[in-house]
Amino acid sequence: MIKKIKTENLKTGMYISDLNCGWLKHPFFGTMRSIKVDSDHIISKIEESGIIEVYIDTEQGLDIDEASAKKEIDEELKEKIKNSEEPVPEPVRPVSIDEEIFNAKKIKEETVEIIHEVMNEALVGGEIEKGKVDHAVDDIISSVLRNQGALVGLGRLRKIDEYVYYHSMSVSVLSITFGRYLGFDPELVKDLGTAAILHDIGISQIPENILRKTSPLNDDEYEEVKKHVEYGRILLEQNGDIPERSILAAYHHHEKLDGTGYPNGLKGDEISLLGQVMAITDVYDALTTKRSWRGRIEPTEALRMIYEWGGTQFSSELVQKFIRSIGVYPVGSLVRLESGMIGVIISHTSEDLLKPVIRVIYDTNREYVVMPYTVDLSKGPGNGGSDRIIGYEHPEKWNLQPEAYL
Ligand SMILES: [Fe+2]
Ligand SMILES: [Fe+2]
Repeated sequence: MIKKIKTENLKTGMYISDLNCGWLKHPFFGTMRSIKVDSDHIISKIEESGIIEVYIDTEQGLDIDEASAKKEIDEELKEKIKNSEEPVPEPVRPVSIDEEIFNAKKIKEETVEIIHEVMNEALVGGEIEKGKVDHAVDDIISSVLRNQGALVGLGRLRKIDEYVYYHSMSVSVLSITFGRYLGFDPELVKDLGTAAILHDIGISQIPENILRKTSPLNDDEYEEVKKHVEYGRILLEQNGDIPERSILAAYHHHEKLDGTGYPNGLKGDEISLLGQVMAITDVYDALTTKRSWRGRIEPTEALRMIYEWGGTQFSSELVQKFIRSIGVYPVGSLVRLESGMIGVIISHTSEDLLKPVIRVIYDTNREYVVMPYTVDLSKGPGNGGSDRIIGYEHPEKWNLQPEAYL
């Protein structure tokens, strides 16, 4: 598990994971992506650098007492997001998650298959079949219009060695959901979804041995990986059917508001709006997925990290809207209720994102898996909603798989 802790709580034996928070840019650390804290010297170097918080990987090093740290994250994030008035857009043809989940599973697997085919074709210099991509994007949009959470909730269930296909599918789902929230017209939502499905197509041109590496990349390898954006632009331009704004969005997905991104170090409004949207959904999906060099980060914690990068890497306004669009506790997250029960977020039906519908699956008082039942926190006491969320939970800690309960 990846956890954020205050520098003052660092201990030798912990393992710090670089999650793009910028601190490893300090000259002392060179271009390291992660570091084992094996001496007090490292801790004092970090403190001297003025770094107040770091991310540790508890699978590779020591843990801390997590309870207090976690609560702090949730409370602060909730407080900051609560004050926004915009409601989540209603589904156009609303169905419950129970009704949509079967469709969503099918759409997910079909989309992954299409992305697989499209990327394989790109690898051997073939054409991108725009018709197939359209089909996948239309399916995702129709599912999101029926039920906003089903595909989002399924997003993290994936085969580990097919990262880029699942990632492209998931970034498309998140971008479409976010685009709807931003009030984009249907055509723009579609072009955004298309851009997202194809955003990493340039990865097909990166040598296998670099992609398969499980140890940290060296400078040259990292430079090569960064080229996927340029390779992608060329591939997309070669195909006459991909809308210009989709190509631009894909080209901009690693640019950062403060000019620290690549390939061109664009700043602020130089980055297209669709590119800015996708930069956020891309990072969110990457963080919440398990990778060979780190465990997966829980959605609420990932949102908190992205929230902190608002104003530097991303537009703060867009970040806040993104969190509103999927919820502080996105569908599929595991949360603990005040009553001691643990449940999975099923949907957000009310305007209050802190009062979602939850499938209760575990009782921490009795340490017992319960027969799943549903509570709607937006309904008052007596109608299923007398409880409240006190924080998110790590599924691994309880050996639970939230996605299985959607
Ligand atoms: Fe990328
Ligand atoms: Fe990506």
